[in-house]
Amino acid sequence: MKLPTKPWIRELQPYPPGKPIEEVEREYGVSGSIKLASNENVLGPSPRAVAALRESAADVHLYPDGGAYYLRRALGEKLDVPPDWLLFGNGSNELIDLAARAFAHQGDDAVVAEHAFVIYAMAMQAQGAAATVVPARAYAHDLEAMAAAVSERTRIVFLANPNNPTGTMFGEDEWRRFLAAVPRDVVIVLDEAYAEYVDDPRYPDSLRTLREVDDRPLLVLRTFSKIYGLAGLRIGYAIGRPEVLDPLNRLRAPFNVNLPAQRAALAALGDDEHIERTRAMNRDGMRQLNAGLNRLGLEVVPSSANFVLVRVGRRDGDVARIYEALLRRGVIVRPVGIYQLPHHIRVTIGTERDNERFLNSLAEVLAADEGEDVAAL
Ligand SMILES: Cc1ncc(COP(=O)(O)O)c(C=O)c1O
Repeated sequence: MKLPTKPWIRELQPYPPGKPIEEVEREYGVSGSIKLASNENVLGPSPRAVAALRESAADVHLYPDGGAYYLRRALGEKLDVPPDWLLFGNGSNELIDLAARAFAHQGDDAVVAEHAFVIYAMAMQAQGAAATVVPARAYAHDLEAMAAAVSERTRIVFLANPNNPTGTMFGEDEWRRFLAAVPRDVVIVLDEAYAEYVDDPRYPDSLRTLREVDDRPLLVLRTFSKIYGLAGLRIGYAIGRPEVLDPLNRLRAPFNVNLPAQRAALAALGDDEHIERTRAMNRDGMRQLNAGLNRLGLEVVPSSANFVLVRVGRRDGDVARIYEALLRRGVIVRPVGIYQLPHHIRVTIGTERDNERFLNSLAEVLAADEGEDVAAL
């Protein structure tokens, strides 16, 4: 069949979907698996969000509120920004895509960091635009080099803070220097999907920057998928000045955020206790995983998010073998080869029991692998 597909779309690699947990279990003949592969909140959603979702079921014959009136008002209050500084999306993923569609023409480019969240480059490619990849420094964004990489063709710089899959973070000082160095007509998309997990006092106050800086386009992206535990509902948001949000708002579909998602997000916003419990679990779990992985003699990248990147392989093929052997033990993690990290896996922080099970399984697998004991793998 002859299709008039745009040539650059033929080159796009679809984002690789994970297998449903039930399929993995059937394939490997295991049950009771733990999924530490997608940086979801292992405690689940807030019970208040679940109640709101149940109630919303009776209303799904109605279109959602295209302006997300109640959620906008509540979130504006929580973040202390005017309601028209918010734009909601079908996950923050949609907002990344809308930013690329709004600001990049064919032949333009965006500056992104090596090992950065892969969707930025894909969103640019979907526009026939490109991504200039700037080498990372110790797995982290090198903001100085990223600012220096901005060219005549650069329309957007994408920054993930903390970054996925490395968990690395940059601080206020670096952020300020970066802002001073980047030309004022380049859009900065600051993706803070994991902001609520960060404990580090150096973490930039991006909302303060937004309030202070009115002479350059800046978008801050956040999501209900991570700490709020609503990944399956697909809802995220951009915070920015109305004139910067305006082109994205024109482009979006009128009902891009569904009704149950809006209701559940509103309920989740009011449940500080659930957020605090999740944060505490993450803090303890991070300590437990770091200690356990260090005991195994593995290199762990210091993380500010709800996952860690750990080097488990030395040669090509190691990670695939270790990943499979973990699956056979009902432990699902994420290999990160598509991030040019062929020797690492990314592991989401789980409950104390999850983390222990992962550490024990990994110890077993590494011992078998080291001894080349194929049967024990
Ligand atoms: C850095 C980063 N940004 C954005 C997203 C997209 O999140 P969502 O579309 O679920 O809001 C993710 C999800 O993995 C992420 O890791």
